[in-house]
Amino acid sequence: MASEVTGSGDDAFLLRALELARRGTGYVSPNPRVGCVIAHRGVIIAEGWHAEYGGLHAEAIALNTLDGAYNPSNCTLYVTLEPCNHVGKQPACSAAIIRSGIPRVVVGMRDPNPHVDGGGAQALVDAGVSVIHASSGVTQQCMWLNRFWTHAVTTGRPYIILKIAQSADGFMCLPDRSRLQLTGPEAQARVHALRAEVDTVLVGMGTVRSDNPQLTVRLVEGRTPRRVIVGQRTSLPSESFIAQTMMDTPTYFIERDTSLASGFEHLLVEQSIQSILCEPGPTVAQLLLDQGLVDELHLHTSSRMLRDGIGVSLHAHEWTEHSTEQVGTDVITTFLKTQS
Ligand SMILES: NC(=O)c1ccc[n+]([C@@H]2O[C@H](COP(=O)([O-])OP(=O)(O)OC[C@H]3O[C@@H](n4cnc5c(N)ncnc54)[C@H](OP(=O)(O)O)[C@@H]3O)[C@@H](O)[C@H]2O)c1
Repeated sequence: MASEVTGSGDDAFLLRALELARRGTGYVSPNPRVGCVIAHRGVIIAEGWHAEYGGLHAEAIALNTLDGAYNPSNCTLYVTLEPCNHVGKQPACSAAIIRSGIPRVVVGMRDPNPHVDGGGAQALVDAGVSVIHASSGVTQQCMWLNRFWTHAVTTGRPYIILKIAQSADGFMCLPDRSRLQLTGPEAQARVHALRAEVDTVLVGMGTVRSDNPQLTVRLVEGRTPRRVIVGQRTSLPSESFIAQTMMDTPTYFIERDTSLASGFEHLLVEQSIQSILCEPGPTVAQLLLDQGLVDELHLHTSSRMLRDGIGVSLHAHEWTEHSTEQVGTDVITTFLKTQS
C-alpha cells in the first residue's frame, strides 16, 4: 500500500464505515466485519456493510447503491478492511472498485488473510488507483473489531476470552460451589453484549450442574451464540436448560479424552468457530489459565466480600491491562496477553 497517511477528514469517514461494520456482529462470522462509505467531494453518497456470511461484501453493496449522477472521479471509497482480490463466495472487490472508476481508496487495515495480504491493495495500485492507509488510531480500531477473525486466520486457533467474576477478596464462588450471582445487572449486560459478538460461549459441566445457565443473549439486542461444554456429554443433566434446548442451539462437548487446546482447534476446523467466550467456574478457568489458552481476560470484580471460597491463580505477570471501567457496582478490567 502507498504510505500516505490520512488527515482527520478521512478518519471521520472511516469511523462511519466502522460503525456500519459493527452491524454485521453475530451474523458474518467466519467472515470479518467490514463497512464501506463512498464520499463525493466530502459528502457521503453511498454506504454498505457485510451483513451475512456468504452475502455481498461491503464495497459491492456501496458501489451498487451509487447514484449514476455522481462523477466517480470525484469520489473516495473508504473501507475498514483491505478489499479482497480473490473470487470466493463473492467476486473480487478490487476488480469492482477498478471498474467503478473511483480513483482514491482509503483502507482501515491490511487484510492478514494469506489469500489477500496486500494483494487487494496492490491490484488497485497497479490499476492506477491511489490507496491510502488510515491513521494508526483508526487502524487499531479496525483491528480490534476483527481481532477474532485475524487471530483465527493467522494462527489456526480460535480467539479465547475468559470472563471471571470475583468477589472483592478474590473468590469466584463459595466453598460448596452453590449458585451465586456476584455481579450486578450492568456487568451482566456487558457479558450478554460479548456473547452476541462471539461464535460460542463455553462453561464447564460443574457450572451446568450448579447454575443451570441459559447462556443466551437476553439483556441486550443480539443473537445467541452456539455453546461448548467442557465435560462428558453423557453426564449432562437431562433437566438442564442446555439439554432442553439442544435442538435450538448447537452444542459441542470437549470431553476428558481431548485436550482443551485440540478441542478448540477442532472447533475451528470443523465448525468454523473463531471466537469462544469462556464463562466457566474455577476448575475450567484454572485449566485455561494454566495451559496458556486465554487471549483476553475480563475480570469482573464485585464490591462484595465472600470471606471464604474458591478462586484462581491468574498468572498476573502474563497480562497487560487494556482497560478498566466502573460498570454499575462492579469494576471490569480487560487484560491482553503480554507480547513476549
Ligand atoms: N465467578 C464466576 O465467574 C463463575 C462462573 C461460572 C461458575 N461459577 C461458579 O463456579 C461453581 C462451579 O465450579 P466448577 O469448578 O465446578 O465449574 P466448572 O469449572 O465450570 O466445571 C468443572 C467441571 O468441568 C469438568 N471438567 C473439568 N476438567 C475437565 C477436563 N479436563 N475435561 C473435561 N471435563 C472437565 C468436570 O465435570 P465432571 O465432574 O462432570 O467430569 C468438572 O467438574 C459454581 O458455584 C458456580 O456458580 C462462577
